[in-house]
Amino acid sequence: MTHVFHRAPANTYPIADHGEGAYIVDRDGKRYFDAGGAAVSCLGHSNKEVNDAIKRQVDKISFSHSGFFTNEPMEELAEFLATRALGRLDKVYFVSGGSEAVEAALKLARQYFLEKGEPKRTRFISRRQSYHGNTLGALSAGGNE
Ligand SMILES: Cc1ncc(COP(=O)(O)O)c(C=O)c1O
Repeated sequence: MTHVFHRAPANTYPIADHGEGAYIVDRDGKRYFDAGGAAVSCLGHSNKEVNDAIKRQVDKISFSHSGFFTNEPMEELAEFLATRALGRLDKVYFVSGGSEAVEAALKLARQYFLEKGEPKRTRFISRRQSYHGNTLGALSAGGNE
């Protein structure tokens, strides 16, 4: 019995206990090769450098609203990405995941054409049955029924 509303409520899921590099280990010790999980996770599990950086940052501050503050890690990452985009993309918009990234892209595209005085440009071209997020906008943009 679970109170979690799982993606497929009829399924019984193994309990992920911990990660080791490319493996997820369940509560019974069974190891699952995690070849990317949701296809977009690429850092592996329990990487000490990543874990230490997360701990260092959360010990300093857990949250500040991006409408009011910037912060050093965000500025550093934006610079890292922008300097590798060969000068063509020099701004980075931070979101928390794939769904939010698609929603942000839809909004940015819409706003761009509104401000250019082309309000009738409201259609998006995308691949049918692609998947880039679980929100209504992201599912719609991917033609994902
Ligand atoms: C290819 C791809 N894009 C985007 C997403 C959605 O990312 P998020 O769960 O962070 O919204 C996923 C998640 O499964 C994915 O596999």
